Amino acid sequence: MNRVGVLARIALVVAATATGAARADVSADVQRELLQCAACHGDDGRATAVPENGRIAGQNVDYLVYILKQYRAGRLQGLNGGIMTSAMRHLTDAQIVEIARWYATLP
Ligand code: HEC
Repeated sequence: MNRVGVLARIALVVAATATGAARADVSADVQRELLQCAACHGDDGRATAVPENGRIAGQNVDYLVYILKQYRAGRLQGLNGGIMTSAMRHLTDAQIVEIARWYATLP
């Protein structure tokens, strides 16, 4: 494949990856975080591919804020709680609220 073809392919992959999370009312830094969440919870937050990770789409916003802060604080050390603690550790309170609001609006 020539150079232009390779670049076009990369652009397509990036576009396809971003579509799932792209949303006008979500800030750029949180959009990037949503791509991480999508890797484990699915683009639509329904965890169709790996149900054990938990369906988070359409969940109550207050519950999401609460549970994400619990994971961030390392207070949920269940079966795979450590995975979520690492995924949440760097997030601010404001980012958690924004992420929770976004998932709460998904069907
Ligand atoms: C590397 C994979 C991975 C990433 C990245 C990840 N999660 Fe998770 N998530 C999990 C796993 C595994 C669990 C179940 C943890 C357990 O056993 O307690 C979980 C649990 C959860 C839960 C609790 C579900 C429930 O039913 O109560 C929520 C909410 C959640 N994740 C949201 C998020 C959000 C939001 C992000 C992105 C900021 C994220 N996760 C990133 C793997 C991941």
